[in-house]
Amino acid sequence: MDDTTINMEHSRLKTEDAAIYKAIKGEEKRQAEGLELIPSENYVSRAVLETLGSVLTNKYSEGYPGKRYYGGQEFTDDVENLARDRARKLFNCKYANVQPLSGAPANVAMFFALMKPGDTVLGMDLSHGGHLTHGSPATVMTKVFNFVRYGMKDLETGEIDYDALLKTAKKEKPKIILAGYSAYSRELDYEKFVEIGREVGAYTVADMAHVAGLIAGGSHKNPFDYGFDVITTTTHKTLRGPRGGMILVRNSEDLAKAVNKAVFPGLQGGPHMSQIAAKAVCFKEALSPSFKKYTKQILKNAKAMEKVFHARNIRMLAGGTSNHLILADVFGSLNVGGKDAQTVLDKVGITLNMNMIANDPRKPMDPSGIRFGTPAITTRGFGEKECARVAELIIDTLENMDDANTKKKIRYEIFELSKNFPIPDSFV
Ligand SMILES: Cc1ncc(COP(=O)(O)O)c(C=O)c1O
Repeated sequence: MDDTTINMEHSRLKTEDAAIYKAIKGEEKRQAEGLELIPSENYVSRAVLETLGSVLTNKYSEGYPGKRYYGGQEFTDDVENLARDRARKLFNCKYANVQPLSGAPANVAMFFALMKPGDTVLGMDLSHGGHLTHGSPATVMTKVFNFVRYGMKDLETGEIDYDALLKTAKKEKPKIILAGYSAYSRELDYEKFVEIGREVGAYTVADMAHVAGLIAGGSHKNPFDYGFDVITTTTHKTLRGPRGGMILVRNSEDLAKAVNKAVFPGLQGGPHMSQIAAKAVCFKEALSPSFKKYTKQILKNAKAMEKVFHARNIRMLAGGTSNHLILADVFGSLNVGGKDAQTVLDKVGITLNMNMIANDPRKPMDPSGIRFGTPAITTRGFGEKECARVAELIIDTLENMDDANTKKKIRYEIFELSKNFPIPDSFV
């Protein structure tokens, strides 16, 4: 297992904090011996892990390169400039702020950069795949801004109701039309969003957290090519970097200035420089030709899983997938609740998550759906053949919930598959 990111030594930690050491070793084993199908997770390279664990974590760097509030910034400025330059190249835009600590704070900063309290955002309905930060009543943002919704016209094809979107935009006069999702399995028509945004005088923003890697690798359309004003994203997920966020601005200097002010000092204090350096390392990896190949394979692998679900008559929301994820209605198709499905699959070594589906008759803590995807297993080297087999094993498990023998056999097969596809160390 020497050629993997797992089994790192941590010799000092072992003697100085045995409890945390033990938990890390347990997590290494869990990741090595099971399959990760949560579509927002991935495995980073050893270079990213090393950077996260570097002395950059000791440094305070409030401000931006060349304009910091503390001394000693010659190396941190290099790091942040490299991260910004690579991000701009990767996503073909003029401005990048790489300081957001994660996806949720990136969205909060973006809202405050583009709007005043009381203004309106038109975002994707959460039950149709939109993210919590796009206006869940559970978030504080809904106390500051007004959120209205668009959604799918047809749950069986995933087509967005663009006529209703336009109608709502005309009525509600949003400041932002927000494209992006965390549980939707098709591409969006960015051209339509921009057309509607221009008609009603709204900014168009894409939260591409889930598909950033697919865009960077050229396997999905880039919203900036269609005239989007701003993109927010995470740097983990398909982009395969450290946990973190980022805000990109296509070409407006005024918007870029507003974004910088909203991130610091508006929302955050000192940037996490080790994380920013690790983002730069991930961007370099994503700029390499092998990353293009990787993202193409993510899509092919998701299609291979879709084919099996079709063949075995399991309903998929939006009728299947054109990206890295599938949302399957396991309650409707197999009479298995999402929570039970998640639990039993965990036991056979397949990690995925329960998820609400549109018009779900069940509750968020035990919904009808499961959501799974291919970014992590593709990093591991799985091709279509292995992905189709995993799809079969998911359904076999759910059809044999109470059959201990079948589950034992499946656990063994997953263990063997995992052993044959160790988590890689490097992507360059
Ligand atoms: C579309 C989208 N935006 C934002 C986020 C929030 O990112 P984070 O969990 O890093 O705060 C997510 C996370 O799942 C997401 O899917």
